[in-house]
Amino acid sequence: MKLPYAKALWATVCVALALLGLLLLLGGFDTSESSTTVAPPSGVAHRVGNGEPLQPLPPTPELAPEKVSLGEKLFYEPRLSGSNSVACTSCHNLAHGGADVRRYSTGANNTPGVVNTPSVFNASLNFAQFWDGRATTLEQQAVEPLLDPNEMAASWASLLAKLQADPNYVQAFNAIYSDGITQANLIDALVTFERSLITQNAPFDRYLKGDHAALNALEIDGYRRFKDYGCASCHQGDNIGGNMFQRFGVMANYFATRTLTRADLGRFNVTGREEDRYVFKVPSLRNVAVTAPYFHDGSATTLEQAVTVMGRYQLGRELSPEDVRALSAFLRTLTGEWRGRPLQ
Ligand code: HEC
Ligand code: HEC
Repeated sequence: MKLPYAKALWATVCVALALLGLLLLLGGFDTSESSTTVAPPSGVAHRVGNGEPLQPLPPTPELAPEKVSLGEKLFYEPRLSGSNSVACTSCHNLAHGGADVRRYSTGANNTPGVVNTPSVFNASLNFAQFWDGRATTLEQQAVEPLLDPNEMAASWASLLAKLQADPNYVQAFNAIYSDGITQANLIDALVTFERSLITQNAPFDRYLKGDHAALNALEIDGYRRFKDYGCASCHQGDNIGGNMFQRFGVMANYFATRTLTRADLGRFNVTGREEDRYVFKVPSLRNVAVTAPYFHDGSATTLEQAVTVMGRYQLGRELSPEDVRALSAFLRTLTGEWRGRPLQ
């Protein structure tokens, strides 16, 4: 074999090996990403873009005020539950971030739920409802708590009869709906109220809209880290989450040190697909400072703890105390207002 020929062969082998390495590398990334990522539907995707991975909230939609107020009344109505003791607001406390301070809420039968209660504020912007995304619309979602024995434990027949017996409800429904009190109209009113629960005017949104004094240096530094470290690859868009499914434990097994519950299987319970094991809807981080405890299992009691867990299990990164301080400060700028007052 002549030398130049051997050289050319060697060069070809090198190039081929490099290409193979690159392919394997890309393939490796592919399995860790695409198997757990579900592309957001176009309705969500169009709100993501324009350079920044995060956007301000869209304007609160124009909604019929009489439906909003009927929906609000129903949201606070314990007679919607079998025991007349539990309303939507018992678990989604609007005076506490639309969520629950308890790790697991307790329903009409005094039995605890199996996952932590998420906020109803801005839920209308999520591409799916529930931690495992088993409901795609708010209408579908709202039926579940009413009938769930762990939540309101009602039956349609009895709860509609209770409303029928109240002249105020009869009048309020008749004023809006030609067919008065029905299952569909009750859901419609509740959901219309939920669509009004958009928390405008968070300091971060003011910052994104050009008011640079709305955030201090530490908070801006936290936002930079949020983007640089890759938090924004999952928590993104105008709801800063709520537009994709991802595994909890991308870089390490979050569940290794404790007993698994059925709820820990996440989206697997919906699809039965192996790749959906431990996969959850990426939650919105809006108002996250006022919705402790955190995660589907309510296992993190402080924001700092939740941020540290995210660094370790989602990014394979041990965050420094400065990282955690800056990221948490940034997350605290995501608290918006409802009816002119910051959530708390
Ligand atoms: C007993 C407590 C309890 C009551 C009462 C309750 N919820 Fe919930 N809610 C939860 C829990 C827990 C979840 C999460 C369940 C899951 O993901 O599997 C949830 C989830 C939701 C979600 C989905 C939010 C998201 O981001 O995924 C919405 C919307 C919601 N509830 C609205 C309502 C409405 C409307 C009512 C009244 C009809 C209601 N809830 C009553 C505990 C409750
Ligand atoms: C690979 C996707 C991914 C990345 C990257 C990621 N997260 Fe998350 N995040 C999730 C998922 C999924 C959950 C829900 C986990 C669960 O409870 O099952 C979550 C939950 C959270 C929560 C708790 C929210 C709540 O209401 O319970 C916080 C806070 C959070 N993430 C912050 C961050 C921060 C800060 C970073 C960057 C350091 C980050 N996340 C990176 C996917 C991700």
